[in-house]
Amino acid sequence: MGRVINKVAIITGAASGLGRADAIKLSDEGAKLVLTDINVQEGKLVANECKNEALFFEQDVRQENSWPDLIKTTVSEFGKLDVLVNNAGIAPIGNIESTTTDQWHDILKVNLDSVFFGCRAAIPEMSKSGGGSIINMSSTTALVGLSPYLAYSAAKGGIRSMTKSIAMYCLEQKNNIRCNSIHPGSIFTPMVDNALQALADIKLMEQDDPEATRKAMGIGETSDVANLVLFLASDESKHINGAELVIDNGATAGDVSG
Ligand SMILES: NC(=O)c1ccc[n+]([C@@H]2O[C@H](COP(=O)([O-])OP(=O)(O)OC[C@H]3O[C@@H](n4cnc5c(N)ncnc54)[C@H](O)[C@@H]3O)[C@@H](O)[C@H]2O)c1
Repeated sequence: MGRVINKVAIITGAASGLGRADAIKLSDEGAKLVLTDINVQEGKLVANECKNEALFFEQDVRQENSWPDLIKTTVSEFGKLDVLVNNAGIAPIGNIESTTTDQWHDILKVNLDSVFFGCRAAIPEMSKSGGGSIINMSSTTALVGLSPYLAYSAAKGGIRSMTKSIAMYCLEQKNNIRCNSIHPGSIFTPMVDNALQALADIKLMEQDDPEATRKAMGIGETSDVANLVLFLASDESKHINGAELVIDNGATAGDVSG
């Protein structure tokens, strides 16, 4: 208990899945939270579920001007900012031939522009707090090719390299801010349920028994990722910076024989 006591954290996309699990975990461990999402109803419910102080801030992460407002609200409510979890994302399917220009731009706006806006807005305030931890939610699609996820993979690959660039910048600035990316494989959330259904609909995957499909794919749990977010948010990870942390039970590490 108390691994992030009195730290102030922002979590985007906190109304569902991984963001929700991160919120509950960080709150259980003493953090004060500002949770954001476009889904106001569910977002407020998650804030109410948190044991420690937590407020909900309605935000569309694509909107550049929402970011300064969010940072301002966080500091006026809690006095500082220590942790930013850039978690909000969408994963519509589309390959190199089927993806339209509008789809490409929208997927990059939600998944990649938002992380740029968030990091840029948070760094000055974190510097004032004497440092902090930025945690960017990427994916294993940043590391291996998946044909139905062209724009999503491009965005997640962008997050991976942007994260390293930010980590180097912060080292140069000596501002004590760390920046790392997390790369989950498949984790059991509404996003993955929708993805499995979409892949089944276009006959890229059998989905007669969704539960059996999940088991066969070795899908992880939201707490697996939340435990890593907690570690990166805490001072226990103070020497981890510019790293890409894969959390996929070996799925991208190689092949097993037999
Ligand atoms: N679940 C997985 O297997 C998996 C794997 C790798 C990476 N990820 C990443 O983890 C993050 C969370 O995914 P999840 O599985 O929990 O998905 P989810 O769909 O359960 O939750 C995503 C949340 O983001 C919010 N959101 C979407 N667009 C937004 C916008 N424009 N502004 C603000 N909020 C917005 C949604 O309302 C939702 O609450 C995403 O970045 C996703 O790409 C998930």
